[in-house]
Amino acid sequence: MNFQKKKYGIVILSALALSCTSSKKIVSTTNKKLPIDIKVDSVLKLMTLDEKVGQLNQYNGFWDVTGPSPKNGQAAKKYENLKKGLVGSMLNIKGVKDVRALQKIAIEETRLGIPLIFGFDVIHGYKTISPIPLAESASWDMDAIKRSAAIAAEESAAVGINWTFAPMVDVSRDARWGRVMEGAGEDPFLGSKIAVARVQGFQGDFSYKNILACAKHFAGYALAESGRDYNTVDVSENTLQNTIFPPFKASVDAGVRTFMNSFNELNGIPATGNAYLQREVLKGDWKFDGLVVSDWGSINEMIAHGYAKDSKQAAEIALNAGSDMDMESSAYVEHLSQLVKEGKVKETLIDDAVRRVLKVKFELGLFENPYKYCDEAREAATVGKAEFQEGVLDMAKKSIVLLKNEKGLLPLKKSGQKIAIIGALANDKSSPLGSWRLAADDNSAVSVLEGLEKYSGNQLSFAKGADLSVGRTEFIWETKINTTDKSGFEEAIALAKNSDVVVMVLGEHGLQSGEGRSRSELGLPGVQEELLEAVYKANPNIILVLNNGRPLAIPWAAENIPAIVEAWQLGSQSGNAIAQVLYGDYNPSGKLPMTFPRSVGQLPLYYNYKNTGRPTMNEPDSVFWSHFIDQKNTPQFPFGFGLSYTNFAYSDLKLSSPIFTKNGKIEVSIRIKNTGKVKGKEVVQLYIRDLIGSVTRPVKELKGFEMIELEPSETKTVTFTIDEKMTDYFTANRKWETEAGDFVVFVGTNSNETLEANFNYSN
Ligand code: NOJ
Repeated sequence: MNFQKKKYGIVILSALALSCTSSKKIVSTTNKKLPIDIKVDSVLKLMTLDEKVGQLNQYNGFWDVTGPSPKNGQAAKKYENLKKGLVGSMLNIKGVKDVRALQKIAIEETRLGIPLIFGFDVIHGYKTISPIPLAESASWDMDAIKRSAAIAAEESAAVGINWTFAPMVDVSRDARWGRVMEGAGEDPFLGSKIAVARVQGFQGDFSYKNILACAKHFAGYALAESGRDYNTVDVSENTLQNTIFPPFKASVDAGVRTFMNSFNELNGIPATGNAYLQREVLKGDWKFDGLVVSDWGSINEMIAHGYAKDSKQAAEIALNAGSDMDMESSAYVEHLSQLVKEGKVKETLIDDAVRRVLKVKFELGLFENPYKYCDEAREAATVGKAEFQEGVLDMAKKSIVLLKNEKGLLPLKKSGQKIAIIGALANDKSSPLGSWRLAADDNSAVSVLEGLEKYSGNQLSFAKGADLSVGRTEFIWETKINTTDKSGFEEAIALAKNSDVVVMVLGEHGLQSGEGRSRSELGLPGVQEELLEAVYKANPNIILVLNNGRPLAIPWAAENIPAIVEAWQLGSQSGNAIAQVLYGDYNPSGKLPMTFPRSVGQLPLYYNYKNTGRPTMNEPDSVFWSHFIDQKNTPQFPFGFGLSYTNFAYSDLKLSSPIFTKNGKIEVSIRIKNTGKVKGKEVVQLYIRDLIGSVTRPVKELKGFEMIELEPSETKTVTFTIDEKMTDYFTANRKWETEAGDFVVFVGTNSNETLEANFNYSN
């Protein structure tokens, strides 16, 4: 049966199904004027229980789709289920040819011809790779982040994908967790803004250039004990509401159409089986009417968690708790129909889940045209477009954070210099792609060396110094990082001695962060620290360029190395972005979205901590206060920190009134002057503190920021509005409210350097 006939099947049967309730109107699934919910219901009414359950089943790609069909094993079973209409979505299928082949089976061979949706982890680009999300977050530039997501959407949509499992909006406070690279860092306010930018960038107006976004991982995943991936999470409602939930809520408000739950248990209940999270909060309080997908196999993982005795019980728990779609556990397709028959799962709940799946398929326009994302000519014209490369270069430059710049080492002089470039990462075209670059070509990034070579005025020489052993296939990186071989040190030292300035590119391998890559140490891996210290002895004029997927603890470098540039993993255009910043053709303006600790033992470390009852001690020798006896409490580099090639002076913090009342507001203004010699951008940050509350409050909470650009000597006044939106908190009354009392407002260049004033709220 071809699609047209099948479609008419739906049209006619829908009309019959609806005829008793809604006059004699013919319901067409492709009629643009009809409300989607009516169309969804008309399809739902045609479905058998098994077909409904099928819509809730998501399979990973299972065979070479354009080759012969599989004859036995798991793949054969999945293939048979696909033909029976028992699959609602597939993941990890890419390329129009393959997507079309599978869609054709769904449309032409199943009874109802309901289209599939195709998911993929388009985390920071598809083939054209943008900076890792943590790096992008350092830009604090919402337009740039939105554009970057839109590029990723357009490129992946062109290869048939219509659903990305991004953005990850988990607020993370522990750099040991490898997935900090995938999020927006430690702050719920900044994280919310970035979540919105990414959702809007991906989803746009659901044209053929847009794809479904997915806010993940709901919830608490980033707060895994000791930063070890998938580990237990135990957090209070206070932290959930005030810290973890805001970016998820912001995603819902921005219209995100899908959510993914998480692997972790939360306060004793796995997130996948957690009705409080999914039914009460997400679908209840927040009225989310999109689709919730489980994480990979997380339904069956409830067995290992000790929460379900077998896959059947896991399916029962997950569905009842509000997980709509089963990613790769096969628990739903195997057991849900039977569970309904046994009365353990209500069919009305299945219907609700199926409605959500059908709804997003309608919203994507797949009922009108299931091949909307399958255009070979568009695929050829779109993938790797030059315009995308320009976009990710722009994003990469904006993501760089200047951490230190002494001795006038930066920007580099453009001629007459002998420059030594040291470190395996300087010559690496793979690592800058970072983790989650599943469709990028191997070695497709511009290396730092290649970027610097575009500037011809200086004499460049390269020495690896120490091998990091990089390579696209090295997923098990631990075995490959060089921990002993120092045979390259000598050459590097000799080169440094004979140079005016040394650029050292050190850090983590691109696959050393990401899922499953937690670390217990946060220094420079392998012998890189030794290399750095050895080269420093030969020539201290070092510019250290860091490539890393998480905050590192580099106390010696922070103390001794005169210039440090945080360049993360910046994607396809990495080397060009770094070179333009080092040469001053781009003045860096990034600010850290996550605190850099002095040592691992300080973790979790974040700027918006609580004061404790013993924040300091007046007697100098007392140990009885909240501190370490062997380490400072303060970070190496605080949240919001980042320098520029110019300087900014803050002055004249003024409040329009020292008090505001219900529905009122205060205007806060501050003057910022560019006191340096070059034009620069600055992110002006506003924090508040509620001094006394029904629950204790953080010592600072980011509540506003604005990016300004100033010419040398230029001054601008930036104004923020304080209102209840800014001062609200989830209080002891278990609701969001502003409590009467005294507050402090802080405005400045980072979370640690601010001017401050007091104000009062009374209701
Ligand atoms: C597991 C990860 O936790 C999730 O973020 C990802 O989207 C899925 N795998 C699919 O690859």
